[in-house]
Amino acid sequence: MTSPTITVGPLYRQDAEACAQLEKLLFPGDDPWSARMFRDELAVGHFYLAARDGTRLAGYGGLALIAGPPHAETEIHTIGVHPDYQRQGIGRRLLAGLLARADELSAVVFLEVRTDNEPALALYEDTGFERLGLRRNYYRPSGADAFTMRRPARQP
Ligand SMILES: CC(C)(COP(=O)(O)OP(=O)(O)OC[C@H]1O[C@@H](n2cnc3c(N)ncnc32)[C@H](O)[C@@H]1OP(=O)(O)O)[C@@H](O)C(=O)NCCC(=O)NCCS
Repeated sequence: MTSPTITVGPLYRQDAEACAQLEKLLFPGDDPWSARMFRDELAVGHFYLAARDGTRLAGYGGLALIAGPPHAETEIHTIGVHPDYQRQGIGRRLLAGLLARADELSAVVFLEVRTDNEPALALYEDTGFERLGLRRNYYRPSGADAFTMRRPARQP
């Protein structure tokens, strides 16, 4: 169950440094995103959510709009929860917020995930994603493989 102190709301440009720190912690072998990359994501209008414990960033997630209606396509670009806050329902809340946005657009949702990332795979499969394909040697510099996953478009 999510801690009652955690709030989920918009991610701001000022959060970019904290996101980059968290990326280093969560994706050490896979070219973690820089603060600039987060700022660029926000600048182009992608949809980002933050989970906060007071002023502390506990997690973040981002959805990119790839194509607009009538055949809208979106992609989960990133999602991460600080190890201190994992397994408290925060990742599920962040993902639900991103998927609600996709559903507003009746958009299909794509993502890539490491084939050995069991927590993320369990979360995605539980929220309606199915495995589409396998990209060998996809992540850098680790060389880890990725599954591509897809969640069909839904009405809000
Ligand atoms: C994947 C991640 C975002 C999940 O966040 P979280 O807040 O810990 O997840 P939640 O507590 O909301 O759990 C939601 C579901 O995810 C799955 N899950 C989460 N952690 C798990 C674990 N350690 N082992 C197995 N399943 C797990 C379960 O299905 C869980 O549902 P349940 O609690 O009903 O069993 C988090 O583990 C994380 O930040 N990992 C590192 C970054 C990452 O891999 N991001 C995804 C890149 S594609």
